[in-house]
Amino acid sequence: MKNKKTVKEFAELQYKNHQNLTTRMNLWSYGSNPESFQKWIFSNIQIQEYERVLELGCGTGQLWIENIKNIPSTCSIILSDFSKEMLSKAKENIQPLNLPIKFEIIDAEKIPYPNQIFDVVIGCHMLYHIPNIQKALISINRILKSGGRFISTTISQQHIRELKDFLSEFGLYSEERMNLFSEFRNETGREVLKPFFSEIKFYEYINQVNITSVDPLMSYIESLFPMEEFPDYQEKKVEVEEAIVKILEKRSKFKVTGISGLFEAKKPIIAYNS
Ligand SMILES: C[S@@+](CC[C@H](N)C(=O)[O-])C[C@H]1O[C@@H](n2cnc3c(N)ncnc32)[C@H](O)[C@@H]1O
Repeated sequence: MKNKKTVKEFAELQYKNHQNLTTRMNLWSYGSNPESFQKWIFSNIQIQEYERVLELGCGTGQLWIENIKNIPSTCSIILSDFSKEMLSKAKENIQPLNLPIKFEIIDAEKIPYPNQIFDVVIGCHMLYHIPNIQKALISINRILKSGGRFISTTISQQHIRELKDFLSEFGLYSEERMNLFSEFRNETGREVLKPFFSEIKFYEYINQVNITSVDPLMSYIESLFPMEEFPDYQEKKVEVEEAIVKILEKRSKFKVTGISGLFEAKKPIIAYNS
């Protein structure tokens, strides 16, 4: 397999439209955790009245759709993404809901806002798509007010371990593939954030799904492997599908465990000497 994409190019390919993201989110909606991931994230952000909020890499805007009743009406919120198609989908989903939300194309590496204007910046499952996370964190820190919060979510190195082990048997999950992501996981996020933020808190979220039919699992796998980048998947697809059928015949389910996490980090309060 030839794998020439950079982290950025891979993210552009993966999110050129909303389909891969939507497929993966659908699967987790059948999970064992009674609280959806988006509800859990929102309860940890604790947005207050009159706060100014910027979300980077908002995807389809699911965070706001699921928490519509709890969005303070006096807030001003900007949802942004670097993918034009993704942002259109978020707009299509949210604009009819009449919320205090605006939409903007923004690349998290080049945030076009002046210093110290946001109370909260959010980046869910997106920092690992940024080649130079440090550059993005400098910008995020710059646009946050003193004492402002940066909320970021990511996955554990053990996320979907059962599926990774299964795919490794076909040579479809490898270190080379992991080079398409930057290092920001549950286990490593604190060290990445530490130079820029203080009072870093971490919370873990686990969701387990028992998949009982072939199609949802195949769709999930395909959402991980955009065909343009992984022609070897196309060659092995039939083999993978047959192996899943066998597992389901034997055990009647394929268990996948999702392990995610949330970091809350504060911009240090600057004390001025008189
Ligand atoms: C895994 S999705 C997460 C979407 C959403 N935050 C969620 O949790 O459902 C990653 C999102 O980050 C966006 N993204 C990736 N790199 C980005 C960048 N450099 N700047 C802004 N958005 C980016 C992608 O287009 C995609 O919508």
